[in-house]
This record gives sequence, C-alpha cells and structure tokens, in this order.
Amino acid sequence: MTKEEFYGSHLENLEAARKQILGIIEEYPEERGEGEGLQAIMYCTSRIKSPESMRKKLALHGFPADCENALTKMYDAVGVRVICSFFDQVYQVAGWLEKRPEIEVVKIKDYIAYPKDNGYRSYHMLLKMADGPGKGVRAELQLRTIAIDFWASLEHQMKYKQEVRHESLIRGELKRCADEIASIDLSMQTIRDLLAEDF
Ligand code: GTP
Ligand code: MG
Repeated sequence: MTKEEFYGSHLENLEAARKQILGIIEEYPEERGEGEGLQAIMYCTSRIKSPESMRKKLALHGFPADCENALTKMYDAVGVRVICSFFDQVYQVAGWLEKRPEIEVVKIKDYIAYPKDNGYRSYHMLLKMADGPGKGVRAELQLRTIAIDFWASLEHQMKYKQEVRHESLIRGELKRCADEIASIDLSMQTIRDLLAEDF
C-alpha cells in the first residue's frame, strides 16, 4: 500500500508539517565565534511513517489499522530526528523548540536522563503543530548526539531480524557500547569546555 492510499488527502498536511518543522529547526541560531568548531545541529532526518509500519504499530496497540487512528492515536506519522554534536546541545535545541509558538509540546520522554534498559539515549518530544501550514498535525521529534545515533542505527537492525544468533551476547555488547558512548560523549563535552577556556 502506498502512502497516498493509506493517508489519502491527509498526506499533504503531514508533508506540510514535516517541512514546517524542518524549516523551524533551520532557524536555530548557531553560535559561531572565532575558532568555534562544532555546530549544535549536525543534521536532521525526517520521514512520513510507511503504511506497513504504521499498520503494524496500530494493530499492536489494538486499534483498527486505518488512517484516522494513525493520525489521532499515534504521534509518529511525522517523524523528525535532530542530530547534535553534544548532549548539552540536545537540551539547548529542545528548550529552544519548546518555546516556539508554532509547536505545542504534548509529552517529553527524556531517555537521556533516564536511558532505556538496552542503553538507548535520546530526547523525544511528542508534539502538535499549533500554527502554520502543518497546523493540527501531530509529530514525533527525536534529538540525540551523533555518537548515539550511530549506536541506534546498529541497534535498530536487531529489531528487523526474526532470529538473532548470539542474541544475549549482542544485547550485552550493545548495552556496553551505549554506556561507553555516553561516557565518551560527556568526556568530549568536557574537553570542548576546557578548550574554550583558552580562547
Ligand atoms: P514505538 O517504539 O514507536 O512503538 O513507540 P513507543 O511508544 O514505544 O515510544 P518510544 O519513545 O519508546 O519510541 C519511539 C521511537 O524512538 C521508536 O520508533 C524508535 O524510532 C526510537 N526508539 C525508541 N527506543 C529505541 C531503542 O531502544 N532503540 C532504537 N534504535 N530506537 C529506539
Ligand atoms: Mg518503543
């Protein structure tokens, strides 16, 4: 089934909201001083959830797998991911977005302060567009560091596999890597701050 078939005339609104959110993020004021290297937002990705994956999710939650439920029961028909250099920038960008009048924050899931058992760390915002071309549309925004993003893309592959050989070993190693990445992310931030003191 195509996105047009599943989302029908709503697909335009979803696309409008997706683009609106990307446009807002582009307005984030990057501080660039002399010798200042790493920008807060490294890159963004975005997508409209595929009908296949949306229907699976609706069924899993016990809802009829139709467009109306996709738009009113779920938040991630529109998904945007913001990849930052450092943890503290994740919170700075999130704080800035939360203040935007076009964005109504419905729920925050802070998996950085409270990581998942598997080691997953990200800051999730469930939102509803309050104004502009995407008005009324729900969306899920995920903010994370580039190092964690690298981890999450590998970890995500496990979810697609029906059968994973050496599963407990892999889970253990992924958890270890996630914790090490978090520790390295913090060290990198400290090094950045020490370097900044010299300027
Ligand atoms: P779904 O996981 O989408 O069914 O929703 P949920 O209600 O469990 O929300 P949650 O915040 O846990 O997850 C939302 C999205 O975050 C997921 O669809 C993934 O994109 C991402 N995510 C959450 N947990 C993990 C994880 O453990 N590993 C990876 N790689 N991604 C995750
Ligand atoms: Mg989940």
